[in-house]
Amino acid sequence: MSGTVILGGGSGFIGTALGNLLRRHGYNIITVSRMPGPNRMSWIELMKNGIPDSCKAVINLAGQNILDPKQRWTPGFKQNVYSSRINTTQWLAEAIDKASAKPEVFITVSGVGYYKPSETEVYNEHSPGGDFDYLSKLCTDWEAAAKLGHSADVRQVTIRSGVVLGRQGGMIQNLYWPFYFGVGGPIGCGKQFLPWIHVHDIARQFLFALQNNKVNGVLNGVAPQICTNGEFSKAFGQAMWRPWFLPMPEFVINFVFGGERGMIMTKGQNVVPKRVLEYGFEYIYPDIKSATENLAKMIVVEELM
Ligand SMILES: NC(=O)c1ccc[n+]([C@@H]2O[C@H](COP(=O)([O-])OP(=O)(O)OC[C@H]3O[C@@H](n4cnc5c(N)ncnc54)[C@H](OP(=O)(O)O)[C@@H]3O)[C@@H](O)[C@H]2O)c1
Repeated sequence: MSGTVILGGGSGFIGTALGNLLRRHGYNIITVSRMPGPNRMSWIELMKNGIPDSCKAVINLAGQNILDPKQRWTPGFKQNVYSSRINTTQWLAEAIDKASAKPEVFITVSGVGYYKPSETEVYNEHSPGGDFDYLSKLCTDWEAAAKLGHSADVRQVTIRSGVVLGRQGGMIQNLYWPFYFGVGGPIGCGKQFLPWIHVHDIARQFLFALQNNKVNGVLNGVAPQICTNGEFSKAFGQAMWRPWFLPMPEFVINFVFGGERGMIMTKGQNVVPKRVLEYGFEYIYPDIKSATENLAKMIVVEELM
């Protein structure tokens, strides 16, 4: 056994892939969740009892799904989006600060929405951002919530994730059937960048950050090959042997999601994983062709990662 990992949001799309990967590598997982279940603790139990002494790492992936089309972009929903990320991160940070036996590492997630959408800029982990709209400020507060007290000698990593591609959740879950029935296509003009990463690679980045004690600070959780939304649609359509021409007009996205939230799909940033590559992380799916070919399979068998 490699030790216990406390995994906030371990029941979600990325959390499930990461939990499976960590278990395969011999870790014992305790999921922090709003729902009871085996090997779970609630957020209240976390605040009351803290983290166990044997804990090797703490990871947070909790957060209300921003792109839930059933939820209108109201002040109440925005508050939920905010508090489900900032509060849970703060509660884990406080639990680490209070623990007598500290974990080795605290890893949190944030988003590439930190960087301002642009068709010309190229962003690495050192680029400025985090101060221009709701989503970028959310990322700043999310990352700040993870800061530990000065006395805590715990390594910290934040993974600024791009759009995670996997069959069990996120964007592909919404796109698979439209593409399957031949009505898939780009969003708007399709020229906006789509910073993406395969779910197996983002899970492997978390494991990499956990196991390599030299890794700290911000990592851009994106694939090394950036593509536009149109290039993604073409690659996914070709991988599924389907047409990829039918665009989803921008006004429809803005109508369903609201302009501020719709920007996640209608605008994009060219983000590169400079520090990730400098640390020597190797991707299974570095390019959109290999990723979409894997995602287009009717049954995706989780490879040993
Ligand atoms: N998927 C992506 O493309 C992507 C991209 C960039 C960043 N991220 C971030 O990565 C994290 C994980 O993403 P994901 O796609 O795995 O998300 P997900 O499938 O929606 O799962 C997130 C988990 O958060 C918990 N949660 C949901 N609403 C909550 C609330 N109101 N209060 C407390 N906990 C709540 C849920 O766990 P319980 O029901 O067990 O409590 C859920 O399993 C999120 O914070 C997301 O913003 C994701």
